[in-house]
Amino acid sequence: MRSLSITAALVCLALLNSAFAEEKLSMSDADKAMYAELLDNNPAEMEVSEGEQLFGALIGTAGYAKMLGVKEKDLPKYIAGFPRYVEPAKKVVTLAQTIQMAAAASEKPVPKLESKEMVKMSAYVKSIANGQKTNIDVKANKHMAEMMKLGQEVFEERRGGRGLSCNNCHSMDIVGQRLRMQPLPDLGAKETAAAGTWPAYRMTQSQMVTLDKRMQQCMKNALLAEIPLGSKEIVALEVYVTNKTKGNAISVPSVKR
Ligand code: HEC
Repeated sequence: MRSLSITAALVCLALLNSAFAEEKLSMSDADKAMYAELLDNNPAEMEVSEGEQLFGALIGTAGYAKMLGVKEKDLPKYIAGFPRYVEPAKKVVTLAQTIQMAAAASEKPVPKLESKEMVKMSAYVKSIANGQKTNIDVKANKHMAEMMKLGQEVFEERRGGRGLSCNNCHSMDIVGQRLRMQPLPDLGAKETAAAGTWPAYRMTQSQMVTLDKRMQQCMKNALLAEIPLGSKEIVALEVYVTNKTKGNAISVPSVKR
């Protein structure tokens, strides 16, 4: 039964060829060289510094810490625990959403989640926690427990024309197999460490991408309707995926294929 369902999933994956046509196959030697080069000289570093300036002009770390109700010196550790329940929002939110909250609290224009400015600012804020270990706590309170449960449901739900779920490509049964020569990453593996490595510079897109955007790109590739940024479901997915590599060190921005 088990091997049957794996076979069925692989057949589905084979059918996805066209959807992945625009994705490059696994890394060529030239791509590997480029990857090494980018690690040394990551173009996203520049965007993170721009994010620092934008964030400084809009809010600043002192105002941000105050809005969150934490001491400024405790920010790195606190930031390493997102998505988390925050009292002023009365719900579980992402870092990007806290930037929106802080902007609103100081009566500044609220940046859109999709905007380039937000990608830069959220990368900067996350980088404040560089070197910290991801310390998300899905048992901290009932809100987190609920979001963890919802995240798992969304991860396992089969959707779209092909009836695929995230789990079909990212379950332990199947990881390490290849889709059009592209290895399917185990989202819980240390090397992948999805939690601590986004926002990242994506080589295939020549730009910095956030974790929620990255998950939307998977949805698009697998022909699943995209779950909107800021929705409860995408925050829940981020909780679930982040929890998989809890404890890994944060290093932002990283470089991804
Ligand atoms: C059809 C197969 C497929 C489906 C379905 C799929 N993914 Fe992926 N996913 C991939 C592949 C292949 C990669 C790696 C691609 C690469 O290296 O560029 C990936 C990469 C990722 C990454 C980045 C991992 C890293 O390097 O940090 C995340 C996060 C992710 N997927 C989440 C999801 C989520 C959430 C869903 C469900 C909404 C999903 N994926 C559905 C195939 C899939």
